[in-house]
Amino acid sequence: MALVTSKEMFAKALNKDYAIGAFNVNNMEIIQGIVQAAQAENTELILQVSAGARKYAKPAYLVKLVEAAIEDTGLDICLHLDHGEDFDICKKCVDDGFTSVMIDGSKHPFEENIKMTKEVVEYAHDKGVVVEAELGKLAGIEDAVNVASRDATFTVPEEAAEFVDKTGVDSLAVAIGTSHGAYKFKGEPALDFDRLIKIHELIPDTPLVLHGASTVLPEFVDMCNQYGGNIPGAKGVPEDMIRTAAKHGVCKVNIDTDLRLAMTAEIRRFLTEQPAEFDPRKYLGPGRDAIQRMVQHKIKDVLNASNIK
Ligand code: G3H
Ligand code: 13P
Ligand code: ZN
Repeated sequence: MALVTSKEMFAKALNKDYAIGAFNVNNMEIIQGIVQAAQAENTELILQVSAGARKYAKPAYLVKLVEAAIEDTGLDICLHLDHGEDFDICKKCVDDGFTSVMIDGSKHPFEENIKMTKEVVEYAHDKGVVVEAELGKLAGIEDAVNVASRDATFTVPEEAAEFVDKTGVDSLAVAIGTSHGAYKFKGEPALDFDRLIKIHELIPDTPLVLHGASTVLPEFVDMCNQYGGNIPGAKGVPEDMIRTAAKHGVCKVNIDTDLRLAMTAEIRRFLTEQPAEFDPRKYLGPGRDAIQRMVQHKIKDVLNASNIK
């Protein structure tokens, strides 16, 4: 049981048909729901913290909660910074004890992204911390209809190879049609798998990362809407597409929206059905249980990662 990097997790997953779940955490109940699921499925996992999460909960609380989760469950957990926007936040997280950081230079020009990533890689590697970077822009496939516009938006395989070679980054987030949040596709869900396969062919030893990979489970969307919510038309990445991605180099699958939906759906239901209750434990508890059920389903049936420990 330890705070570990993702190096060994990815080395094992790289040429197998499973992926490691990377779940965004913001408070104690979310962390507990996720780690209880991972413990029940006997799997490794990544807990990731965004800049927004650091602002909401304060970094020290999140690090201590993750340490407590490791002590409580005996799991190996990688603590990762999600979407670090510059060197400073990556450095802070390395210094705070994170075992993995993401430097997200994807909105910058290619050469600038290389420069930023290289600087973080040098600092982090020196301290035994691994680095994820991103190339390409997360956008739904309907925003990039032809080859030219896809090349301008999605990850260009040849650039991915050059980027990894020049930066020495440990893993690479790719843009193939997923996007963050609960509204991923206006029409039918589709991902650019030809592009993913080409990228994996050119950099077969680099673990790939799929951001925006929530499946937006209809069960929770419907429950939110039934109990006073208003999230019509929410649509995620179908489960079989996540399984396909895991067969073509994707080792890390990022999930936040599904956690938010599961917790909110259950809390909405509880408060609607029991309007006289006002003890937060009474509704945060079921919210935590919903996260556990959802994450167990994800690990077992979508990521295919049960019993890989
Ligand atoms: O990549 C986005 C994640 O869902 C984190 O979201 O910045 O609201 O914490 P956040
Ligand atoms: P979702 O919004 O699909 O959960 O993606 C989360 C993510 O990519 C965090 O980096
Ligand atoms: Zn992301």
